[in-house]
Amino acid sequence: MRLPSSLTTRLALAYGLATAVILASVAAYLSGALSVQLEGRDESELVGEVLLVRHLLREVRSEAEIRADTHRFADIAMGHEGLILVVRSRQGEPLVTLNPRNESVPPLRVLPATMQPEKSLLQTWYPKNGVPSRGIAALGQLGDSDKAVEIVVLRDAGYRVALIREYRHQVLWATLCGAAVAAGLGFALARRGLRPLRRMAADAAAVTTSRLATRLDVGSAPAELRELAAALNDMLARLQDSFSRLSEFSADLAHDFRTPISNLIGQTQVTLAQSRGVAEYEALLESNLEEYERLARMIENMLFLARADHAQVALGIRTLDAREELDKMAEYFEAVAADRDVALAVNGTAMVQADQTLLRRAVTNLLDNALRHAPAGSTVRLDVERAAAPGGGTTCIRVTNAGPAIPPETLPHIFGRFYRADPSRRNSAASTRLGLAIVDTIMRLHGGSVTVRSLAGETMFSLQFPAEALATAAPPVPAPAAVS
Ligand SMILES: Nc1ncnc2c1ncn2[C@@H]1O[C@H](COP(=O)(O)OP(=O)(O)O)[C@@H](O)[C@H]1O
Ligand SMILES: [Mg+2]
Repeated sequence: MRLPSSLTTRLALAYGLATAVILASVAAYLSGALSVQLEGRDESELVGEVLLVRHLLREVRSEAEIRADTHRFADIAMGHEGLILVVRSRQGEPLVTLNPRNESVPPLRVLPATMQPEKSLLQTWYPKNGVPSRGIAALGQLGDSDKAVEIVVLRDAGYRVALIREYRHQVLWATLCGAAVAAGLGFALARRGLRPLRRMAADAAAVTTSRLATRLDVGSAPAELRELAAALNDMLARLQDSFSRLSEFSADLAHDFRTPISNLIGQTQVTLAQSRGVAEYEALLESNLEEYERLARMIENMLFLARADHAQVALGIRTLDAREELDKMAEYFEAVAADRDVALAVNGTAMVQADQTLLRRAVTNLLDNALRHAPAGSTVRLDVERAAAPGGGTTCIRVTNAGPAIPPETLPHIFGRFYRADPSRRNSAASTRLGLAIVDTIMRLHGGSVTVRSLAGETMFSLQFPAEALATAAPPVPAPAAVS
């Protein structure tokens, strides 16, 4: 059997059922008690009748006198349903007979006239309806003579059984009606009780992307719903946060694409405004190429981040000699560094578990930044070190450069996409403003992390690679924030 899907209906049914069970048990108990009580009363009446008849017999002298005034005896049995009274002579000749249904009088043991009738002396007999009934037979003295007659008092219990049956019938109906009323009340109460839930649903339905700041009212919600409301509010807060990051991200994205493209359009328009020499066209194409490259880099970086967000970057993790990698990169950047009058120094040795291409990419991004921010005449340091730690230790690669520190308030944001601490460099052709976001993503893919420390005159980025190689398949990467 399937439960109804409505909570209100379920509660109403439960109320109805509980009430029916309670009422039925009470009714069963009461009808049992009533039956016992009626039986007890009947038995007392039987005893009482015998005493009454004996009392009347004391006032008559002969059997003939009894016959002459049977009414006196009949009266005492009047109004007692199912009561049978027979007074007969010891020879069996009936003197008084009150037996409207003509039951055949059973042979009962007859109590002597001197013996007091008692409930315990009652005997069982079966009337025509077959219901076990009680009765008593006793001798009664006539006047103060020693002559006696036989008194038989019987009570047909059929009436009692019918009474109880009728009573049960009524109680059954009352129980059913009670259960129906309880179910109805339960339905109304449950509907009322669930009103806050409907209100909450209506509030939740009103939330749209333009109204993500809407919150459910936790304070006025009943205690049972408060947890749900709070959880929904937390969810809304997270959604709102992600949504606003996403909006900012796409706005930034549009902006960052617009700059190189308007550069391209502007320069091209100016050059085309009049006819120019070959050298000028060459210069334009060269300048355009730079912008194309920047656009290509941005698109490539965006794609990389998007793929990493969806865990679609396959990692080929190998054990690499980190020192060898750093030496190679230092060599690669030699010319750029020399250009800026910056020295490069590599220190330390360690093995590292990493994807070679991604490791190079991360270090390249850091080196590129370091060289750009390092003042002329300074040294950019590349250090590698194995830090012993519980659980195998990590390999740490550090890129340190001198130069003005990154303001502490911007530090938490620099790993976000399109973030730049120094807005004056916004249009630099070399900058895609995704470099550190990519480093962060690469480190997450490796199960490691990147941290930065920027203090008076020195900025240091550290890459921590975990000792244990991760599975070669890309692990799910928690989507890095658009702007962290
Ligand atoms: N070594 C560094 N010294 C000072 N500031 C840095 C350094 N590296 C990064 N930053 C700051 O962090 C910002 C984000 O860096 P990045 O994501 O690589 O973007 P981009 O280099 O394209 O500007 C940079 O614009 C810069 O302001
Ligand atoms: Mg950079």
